[in-house]
Amino acid sequence: MKAIVANGSKADRFSIISERPARLGEYFVAHTGDGDVLGMVEESIITSAIMEKARDYITASEAEKFASSNTRDRSYTSLVRVVGLVDSLKKGKPEMPSLPPEPGTIVEEAPEDLLKAVFSYGIQIGSLLRKPSVRVGVNIDAVASRHLAILGATGSGKSNLLALIAKEVMKLGGTMVIFDYHGEYSSLKGAVQIRAKINPRILDADELADVIEIRRNASKQREALARALTQQVRSSKDFWDALEKNLRDDNDEELAARVIEIIERARRRLGKILDTEIGDPINMVKPNKVNVIDMLDLNEAQSSLIISYYANEILEQRKAFKRNETENIIFDTPVILAIEEAHAFLPEGEESDAHEIISKVAREGRKFGVGLIVASQRPSRLSQDVLSQMGSLAVFRISQPRDQSYIVESSELVSAEVAAGLPSLNSGEAILLGQWVKLPTVAKIDMVEEKLVGSDYKATEEWARKKKMSEVAEERTDELILY
Ligand SMILES: Nc1ncnc2c1ncn2[C@@H]1O[C@H](COP(=O)(O)OP(=O)(O)OP(=O)(O)O)[C@@H](O)[C@H]1O
Ligand SMILES: [Mg+2]
Repeated sequence: MKAIVANGSKADRFSIISERPARLGEYFVAHTGDGDVLGMVEESIITSAIMEKARDYITASEAEKFASSNTRDRSYTSLVRVVGLVDSLKKGKPEMPSLPPEPGTIVEEAPEDLLKAVFSYGIQIGSLLRKPSVRVGVNIDAVASRHLAILGATGSGKSNLLALIAKEVMKLGGTMVIFDYHGEYSSLKGAVQIRAKINPRILDADELADVIEIRRNASKQREALARALTQQVRSSKDFWDALEKNLRDDNDEELAARVIEIIERARRRLGKILDTEIGDPINMVKPNKVNVIDMLDLNEAQSSLIISYYANEILEQRKAFKRNETENIIFDTPVILAIEEAHAFLPEGEESDAHEIISKVAREGRKFGVGLIVASQRPSRLSQDVLSQMGSLAVFRISQPRDQSYIVESSELVSAEVAAGLPSLNSGEAILLGQWVKLPTVAKIDMVEEKLVGSDYKATEEWARKKKMSEVAEERTDELILY
């Protein structure tokens, strides 16, 4: 496709006028006084000189007839963001030009070998959206040290990308812990599957009250529980018996009965999740493996507790490791923590244990080798504090204007022009930004071959299967009756 630099070019971005419309994510090369530059289309606009004047239907339909026979009527302009000087990109050290291309300069589509030299490195997770023959690589080290946010509407492909990253970490022998709120990763081959469990012996009184769901404002009940949860109870052979005995001994009958009722109900409801015999749950997490912590049976508050417990243990261990304390250290190499549905656990403007510890990991993790991946379909509810610490982003389709503007505000990586292009992405298509890529990249992410459990239920298909089965069963019964 032929294209020409339009008037008013700048060193970091310029418009082009092309013979056909350019697509979001296409790459072009233009000459400047500093050398050739590579640029990516961020916005593509079609205008018609004749249609511009049409304000009513009849004029518009006449104008269109006239316009379509006039080859000069259509104007295809695109905003091209300069990503760097071609020579510097080939060497892997992007530098920006200080001169804009001259208006009128001929612009060429970027050749495939240049794009391959620029994009096909490191761990490859997809292909260029507009040039599928060019593989797209990312740098996992940047994720492990400077964190990654995976954002996008529901069903846009976030969990698939996280599964893909997990599989790559697995191949690299890395350690990863996925907090799996929806039980989506149970079929991830080669991962260590862990049922989330809570050992009440190691909780403090408020945490235990949250887990068994004593209301936050039920202060008498909470205080009674706190008094009863003594050191002696924590180390008793039968934790629950000892706790209930203390409650009865210390309080009036009614209050004791009420708290004991709550405990008993929680034990029935939570069943195997509350386990006084598991010792320290951190020992279930295996180093240099991908660990999936299944939280399907837990509610938000309980999941939040699980996240804060593991994140805290892992961060503390990594700190101790850095201080050369090697005794009882499981995690002697860097760890990546991945939190799905992050807006539920790290909500903007709300404090919680998980929020506090994860903010700490976001701020300090890189010093100790604890990386963070957060995935969310409601970025506008996600803690700005955490989001602003994310060194890399994968942004899938986002249609909500509130989510778009929030990301632009919270992350210096996303410009308003990039945000404007987000609604036009399809499932599995994402803009990769920040330190894990050399350049902002619009990619089609590879599909993980094993099906994640999180994919949509096909209701009509499942009903049809069941219907068929019951019809067959009915036929059989008919046969039985006949003979
Ligand atoms: N890279 C991809 N290529 C093709 N299709 C994809 C890709 N990623 C996801 N999809 C399709 O989109 C569906 C939803 O993907 P996924 O579960 O990863 O979305 P999600 O963003 O995690 O959604 P949610 O917010 O609901 O968790 C998949 O079942 C798959 O059909
Ligand atoms: Mg998902």
